[in-house]
Amino acid sequence: HLMDQLFGMDRLERRLADYFGISRCIITPGDSDRQEKVIEEFGHLLWDALNKQLPIGENIIAVMGGTTMANVAENLSILETHNRHNMFVPARGGIGEYVNVQANSVSAVMAMRTRGNYRSLFVPEQLSSATYDSLLQEPSILEVLNLISEANCVIHSIGRAIHMAARRKMTEKELLMLKQKNAVAESFGYFFNESGEIVYRIPRIGLQLKDILNIPYIFAVAGGKSKAKAIHAYMKNAPKQTWLITDEAAANEILKGL
Ligand code: G3H
Repeated sequence: HLMDQLFGMDRLERRLADYFGISRCIITPGDSDRQEKVIEEFGHLLWDALNKQLPIGENIIAVMGGTTMANVAENLSILETHNRHNMFVPARGGIGEYVNVQANSVSAVMAMRTRGNYRSLFVPEQLSSATYDSLLQEPSILEVLNLISEANCVIHSIGRAIHMAARRKMTEKELLMLKQKNAVAESFGYFFNESGEIVYRIPRIGLQLKDILNIPYIFAVAGGKSKAKAIHAYMKNAPKQTWLITDEAAANEILKGL
């Protein structure tokens, strides 16, 4: 039975990767909506993938925030070797999350768990454009922005559009606009409709979606039956080098209707 299960999962992984046209899907049994253990397993799988994929030398890893990312970070372990150095940076400036799940916090936890380094990006949410422009001239901020622009790895999650917009306290007007545009998925502060088209972008500094097309190592971590639609929408147009780490519940729900 165990062999059947393993081969079954292998087939499911290949079907999903082929369907999205991406390099690789890694699927863990269960449903992360209902089982905390499944999210912990995402952390172990991500660690394994990073350990095997990240090249020797200097790596710059840009990470996004969210509850999945925060939980995954806690479940990473040592990655460094004497000739591999990993620097974690937040992928984009604050997009309205609570402090413990902000990209800054997640990248610091990832660095500490893996014995890497990190740099934080301290740019407040609400600023006049004059203040913002002068802040961007600050050497400490420029240093981090330069690191972000040189990232060779990105780690992010995928969320449900309206849920994320509400959690990040976007205005009623913005929520209405997202509904009218049929936004179903959110990632990197970008919102996507069911066809995977961008319908809105939270204007923040840091990595933009077009920048990640050229980044060799991209890991998307998201699961749970409730996120199937969001994962489906985002992954349709995701960069082809993306590895998706997800669970059986999301995978089955995505492939069900095909
Ligand atoms: O961009 C997507 C969100 O970060 C996902 O958030 O992991 O809390 O569902 P979540």
